[in-house]
Amino acid sequence: MNTLEITLDDRVLVVGSTGFIGGRLVSELLGRGTKLRLLARNPSKLSPSLVKNKLVEVVRGDLLKNEGLHEAFRAIHSAYYLVHSMGGKSIFSNREFTKADKLAAKNFVTAADAANLRRVIYLGGLGERGKNLSEHLRSRAEVADILSSGKARTTILRAAIIIGAGGASYEMLRHLVERLPVMVCPKWIDTKIQPIAVQDVLAYLVGCLFNPDTAGKVFDIGGPDIMTYREMMQQYARAKGLCPRLIIRVPVLTPHLAAYWVDLVTPVPSGIAHPLIEGLKNEVVCHENIIDLYVPIRKTPFFEAAKIAIAEGRDRKETHGS
Ligand SMILES: NC(=O)c1ccc[n+]([C@@H]2O[C@H](COP(=O)([O-])OP(=O)(O)OC[C@H]3O[C@@H](n4cnc5c(N)ncnc54)[C@H](OP(=O)(O)O)[C@@H]3O)[C@@H](O)[C@H]2O)c1
Repeated sequence: MNTLEITLDDRVLVVGSTGFIGGRLVSELLGRGTKLRLLARNPSKLSPSLVKNKLVEVVRGDLLKNEGLHEAFRAIHSAYYLVHSMGGKSIFSNREFTKADKLAAKNFVTAADAANLRRVIYLGGLGERGKNLSEHLRSRAEVADILSSGKARTTILRAAIIIGAGGASYEMLRHLVERLPVMVCPKWIDTKIQPIAVQDVLAYLVGCLFNPDTAGKVFDIGGPDIMTYREMMQQYARAKGLCPRLIIRVPVLTPHLAAYWVDLVTPVPSGIAHPLIEGLKNEVVCHENIIDLYVPIRKTPFFEAAKIAIAEGRDRKETHGS
């Protein structure tokens, strides 16, 4: 049998299981009967029903502190890497996240190599390398390089903004559009972007695990619509039932000013929001669609993805009251 092929006897490690993507991926994989081990810095963030699930093992650990990794990788077939180190105060006063991203990935690779891990699946960012690439997107690419340098065969999925309730970039979009009928934006408002529905991202993440031919490959993933940020905001407003936003493009608006503006209007922590804002200058569209050959799916249009995310956000508010 191909050793890259996964069976129901194999266990899969998810690093980042308390996050936006990782949390949803865990539910998808459990739905397919996959045995999981979750590495979490703070296991109390995981739901009690998940922790009690017979298919799930939980290991407390931290990539940066190099804690729990030996235990986490024991007898693991494949691992998902769904982690970033943004947080801190702000990109403008704390650029440490890129160093932390590298250290976390290096510690992961060292432990994975020692345990003879077969496959890694990483969700990183779109964006072409060059001087103009934002620190956040450059860091995503550096992590891809580090993960690929290990012995395990690495599959890299590269995505732009993911449309789903709770995602940091989506929540920024949502709050800006819902709270500001008039927006003054710099030239990035006409930068091109290819958003993707979170359901599609999950289908690709799961599809890659179950298709060993995706091992060792890099895939750009995106939805069917390429649009500008301006168009994305207007489509979101329409999906939400709001009147079109008045978006005024101005020649000068420094990233600092834009960042403080976003801090005022959205609840996304500035240590995450600021690196994402810096990335708005970069075009993030797919340059190939090779994933279609390996994991063919129906790609969700942006408008439909926004409607689903809005409904899901409403349900969450009713359940959690936030
Ligand atoms: N969201 C998007 O729109 C988007 C778009 C394109 C690509 N991506 C990529 O998708 C991946 C997942 O992003 P996300 O949106 O799910 O992020 P997220 O919600 O912020 O989740 C990040 C996860 O990483 C964990 N983590 C951070 N530092 C860690 C450490 N030192 N040790 C162990 N775990 C650590 C966090 O654990 P704690 O709960 O303990 O903090 C959390 O579970 C990232 O690679 C990101 O670049 C996301």
